[in-house]
Amino acid sequence: MKRFLIALSVITLMLWFLDTQLAGAAGQDGKLSAVSLKDAEKTTDKSVDAADFVGSETCSTCHAEVLKSFAGNPHAKLAMLHGGKGITCEGCHGPGKAHVESGGDATKIFRFSQATAKQVDATCLGCHEQAHPNFERSPHGEAGVGCTSCHSVHASGNDLSLLKAPQPGLCYTCHTSTESAFALPFHHQVDEGLMKCSDCHDTHGTFKRKQLRTTAEENAICTKCHTDTAGPFAFEHPVVKAEGCVACHTPHGSPNARLLNVSNVNTLCLQCHSATNLSQFPNAVSEQGGPVHNQATQYVACTNCHSQIHGSNATYNFFR
Ligand code: HEC
Ligand code: HEC
Ligand code: HEC
Ligand code: HEC
Ligand code: HEC
Ligand code: HEC
Ligand code: HEC
Ligand code: HEC
Ligand code: HEC
Ligand code: HEC
Repeated sequence: MKRFLIALSVITLMLWFLDTQLAGAAGQDGKLSAVSLKDAEKTTDKSVDAADFVGSETCSTCHAEVLKSFAGNPHAKLAMLHGGKGITCEGCHGPGKAHVESGGDATKIFRFSQATAKQVDATCLGCHEQAHPNFERSPHGEAGVGCTSCHSVHASGNDLSLLKAPQPGLCYTCHTSTESAFALPFHHQVDEGLMKCSDCHDTHGTFKRKQLRTTAEENAICTKCHTDTAGPFAFEHPVVKAEGCVACHTPHGSPNARLLNVSNVNTLCLQCHSATNLSQFPNAVSEQGGPVHNQATQYVACTNCHSQIHGSNATYNFFR
């Protein structure tokens, strides 16, 4: 394994120059591959330690079914590599000569099932680091939840992302309290299959808190779907931009309509717009010096009148 890793770094250097030429290579579907060919070649290039690599055909003499079922794997589909074979067995399991010569001694080949999370991650990231550079710093990486906690290369069925199980079931195996949240009366339709955890989170790590694709404060994860709340508005409700959607809404699920954090809209508003902090809201002060209306005694929802609560282009009091 050590030798394999040393060979890797040598080839990485050698192929450094090739990178510029190959960087623009597009994948089969025309979009740029997230994995650079430099990375993909380096573990499988046979020119360096050719003697230790035996090739997939040899593996197939004993592991015929594995090779057969591998044909539909995204790893086998990179036409530019190895005469159309893509990533071969030894790209992940390392050179197989010793294993083959010993007649299949399982200790002489890299076994993901026996490896630590860090070793697994390092092997996968050898090629996927460009796409997922933050993984080891992410809550998953730090907690030892490795690539193979969520992905299965051989047993993922037809899933193109090679997930062990579809979302959200995959996530619920560990995040049980999140499962309860989505079971509340008002919730985003994740269990119903209309959206996925990964619409809002990148489980491979982000620079944001809670592995959010972008911060709640910046709201972009929410406003990409709820475009009408995005603004900019002529009259902003500053809390939307300053504290984010989660200042008033629970993202997963809530016992309250509209996914509100509290059961009563007025209670929500009065957390900030109370009669005791009038000075913070100059517009809410009447000519007599008191509140423009006694908010606490309103029996109807504040949003009956202040309906454009996310901001308005028409009125500064969000009436329309
Ligand atoms: C001569 C026959 C033979 C060849 C060729 C061979 N293997 Fe194996 N392999 C075996 C046997 C036997 C086992 C042990 C199976 C067991 O213990 O369940 C094994 C086990 C393994 C394991 C570990 C399985 C586990 O349960 O953890 C991996 C991974 C593996 N082989 C990969 C490869 C790869 C990759 C190649 C090609 C480089 C290859 N093998 C070529 C016979 C072979
Ligand atoms: C992209 C990396 C990758 C490639 C390429 C790959 N494997 Fe694996 N292999 C794994 C991982 C990860 C596991 C652990 C089980 C799983 O995730 O499915 C594994 C497990 C195995 C096992 C043990 C049985 C098991 O399910 O635990 C065998 C045998 C094996 N691979 C053989 C092969 C052969 C033969 C090839 C070439 C056809 C190959 N692998 C290509 C990553 C890879
Ligand atoms: C030798 C390089 C290499 C290694 C090692 C490797 N991969 Fe890959 N992987 C690739 C290439 C190349 C592709 C196909 C290119 C693409 O679609 O971006 C791919 C595709 C994938 C995909 C599907 C991508 C998609 O867009 O649908 C997943 C998921 C994946 N790999 C996970 C893993 C995991 C997990 C491991 C470790 C067990 C691993 N890979 C190890 C090179 C590698
Ligand atoms: C906590 C679960 C989890 C872990 C751990 C995890 N993944 Fe993923 N991965 C996913 C999910 C979910 C998707 C599908 C994302 C989507 O559909 O948008 C995915 C997609 C991918 C893809 C294809 C699409 C993309 O975003 O590039 C690759 C490649 C990949 N993962 C590689 C890895 C590697 C390498 C590791 C380990 C360093 C890893 N993953 C660890 C859950 C995980
Ligand atoms: C194998 C168990 C496991 C699986 C599967 C798993 N996670 Fe995690 N997840 C963890 C652990 C452990 C942590 C770190 C400890 C914590 O914060 O709970 C974590 C952390 C997180 C965090 C950050 C929490 C925070 O407070 O910062 C998010 C978000 C997350 N996971 C989402 C997901 C999603 C989405 C999926 C499914 C695609 C998933 N997880 C699958 C175990 C798992
Ligand atoms: C609509 C976007 C969205 C979806 C879909 C979503 N999340 Fe979240 N998630 C968030 C936001 C926003 C936070 C941060 C909440 C906060 O700051 O109070 C969060 C926080 C978390 C946390 C940290 C602990 C917590 O509850 O605050 C975990 C774990 C988590 N999400 C897992 C998941 C899982 C698993 C799924 C899918 C079943 C999922 N999320 C789907 C937006 C989403
Ligand atoms: C992938 C698209 C998508 C994303 C991202 C998304 N939502 Fe939603 N949201 C929906 C859909 C579709 C509905 C309505 C269907 C339903 O009942 O779930 C909805 C419903 C809601 C509702 C309840 C509306 C009502 O009429 O009851 C609120 C509040 C909400 N989302 C807030 C948020 C917040 C806050 C975020 C960011 C953390 C967010 N959404 C991210 C698609 C999305
Ligand atoms: C100041 C508190 C507050 C903030 C911040 C806030 N909302 Fe709301 N939102 C509400 C209230 C209150 C309602 C219910 C309005 C009603 O009952 O008519 C609501 C309703 C909604 C609805 C239901 C449809 C509609 O427009 O009435 C969606 C979707 C929604 N909000 C999304 C978001 C998103 C996305 C963000 C962040 C960009 C956000 N909200 C920020 C208070 C807030
Ligand atoms: C997290 C604190 C917070 C919450 C919760 C909140 N607001 Fe505001 N709201 C503000 C701030 C800050 C301003 C801007 C005050 C200023 O510019 O002087 C504002 C402005 C307003 C204005 C415009 C008038 C003005 O004083 O500028 C109205 C009307 C308003 N809010 C109504 C509501 C209603 C109705 C709710 C409940 C759905 C609500 N707000 C919830 C903080 C909040
Ligand atoms: C019956 C309709 C109605 C309801 C319900 C209502 N308001 Fe008002 N609100 C008004 C009117 C009218 C004004 C004065 C508008 C003006 O002077 O331009 C006002 C003014 C305000 C202002 C000062 C900003 C401004 O436009 O002058 C704030 C802040 C405010 N309301 C918050 C609330 C809160 C919080 C609630 C719920 C507890 C609430 N309102 C319920 C009608 C209503």
